[in-house]
Amino acid sequence: MTSTSQLVQKERLVRLLLIGDIVGKPGRQIVARALPGLRIQQQLDLVVANAENAAGGSGLTPPIYHELIASGIDCVTMGDHIYRRREIFSVLESELRIVRPANYPAEAPGRRWTVVPAATEEPVVIFSLLGRIFMPPVDCPFQAAERVLAEIPADTRFVVLDLHAEATSDKQLMGRFLDGRVTAVLGTHTHVPTADEQILPGGTAYHTDVGMTGPHESILGRRIDRVLETVRTFRPTHFEVAKGDVRLHGTIVDADPRTGRAKAIRRISIDQAAADRLATLTQKAESAASGCPTANYSEGSPDPAGPR
Ligand SMILES: [Fe+2]
Ligand SMILES: [Fe+2]
Repeated sequence: MTSTSQLVQKERLVRLLLIGDIVGKPGRQIVARALPGLRIQQQLDLVVANAENAAGGSGLTPPIYHELIASGIDCVTMGDHIYRRREIFSVLESELRIVRPANYPAEAPGRRWTVVPAATEEPVVIFSLLGRIFMPPVDCPFQAAERVLAEIPADTRFVVLDLHAEATSDKQLMGRFLDGRVTAVLGTHTHVPTADEQILPGGTAYHTDVGMTGPHESILGRRIDRVLETVRTFRPTHFEVAKGDVRLHGTIVDADPRTGRAKAIRRISIDQAAADRLATLTQKAESAASGCPTANYSEGSPDPAGPR
C-alpha cells in the first residue's frame, strides 16, 4: 500500500497546512518549537496559520506577526478579533503575508486576498471569510467569495480559504458552494476540531474546524475559573490565557499540481511531548547541515503528526 508521503514524492503533490487559531504565548511557543521540524518531517510546502488570538488571546501585534513568520508560517489569516490591537493596521496595510476577512467593508484595513509561493514555487492564493451566524454583521460571504475568485489570476490553481465561522451549517454551505473551484475550505474560530475532514465530490478539501493551537486545559484557550466565575455571577473578570496541555492543531491538505484539486486531507494534533521530538528533529537537521554531530537524538520516535 502506498503511504501519503510516498504519493507526495511520486506525484509531487503540493502539501499545505492550516494551523488553527493560535492563542497567546503558549500557542506561539508550541508553533515555534514544533513547526520547523514539522515542515521537515511532513515535507510541507506552505503553512498558513490563523493568528487572531495570538497576542494575549485577542488580536495580533507587529512584533508577534514577525515572530510567527520567523517561526516558519508563510501566511497569516485573522478573524473577528483582527482589529483588537490597532497597531496591527500598519502590518495589514503593508505586508503581503497577511489577509483580513474578505467580507469586511472595502474601507477596512488589510488586503482581501494574497498570493504566497509554496516551496514548490506554485503560487497559492489565500483568503478568509467570516460567517454570519453569531458573528459581527458582515457582507454576504458567498458574494465576497465570488468577488475574490473573479479577481485572482485566471490561471491560479491553488486557492485556500480560511472560513472563520461559528455555525457548522455556514461552513458546510460554503464548502459545497466552492466545491471544485478552490483547493481547500478549512474552518477556524470555534477552537474545537471537528471529525469531518473530507474531499468533496468536486475535489475541494473540506474541514468544518481545524481546532485551536494553545492551552487545551481551558475554555477555548482561557482560564476555566475566570470564565466560569463571570458566566455564573456576571462579575467581569480578566479572561487570562490558560497554561495547561498546550497542543498544536491543524489540517494538512495534499493537492494535485496539475489541477489544484485536493487528493488527501488529515487532521494533526501535536502535544508538548511531540513538539519536543520535532524540536530534536530540527536540531538534528541543523547539525547535519553544519556538519556537526548531534548528541542525544533518539531514533524511532513515533510520528507525532500522524492521524489521531
Ligand atoms: Fe479564535
Ligand atoms: Fe474568531
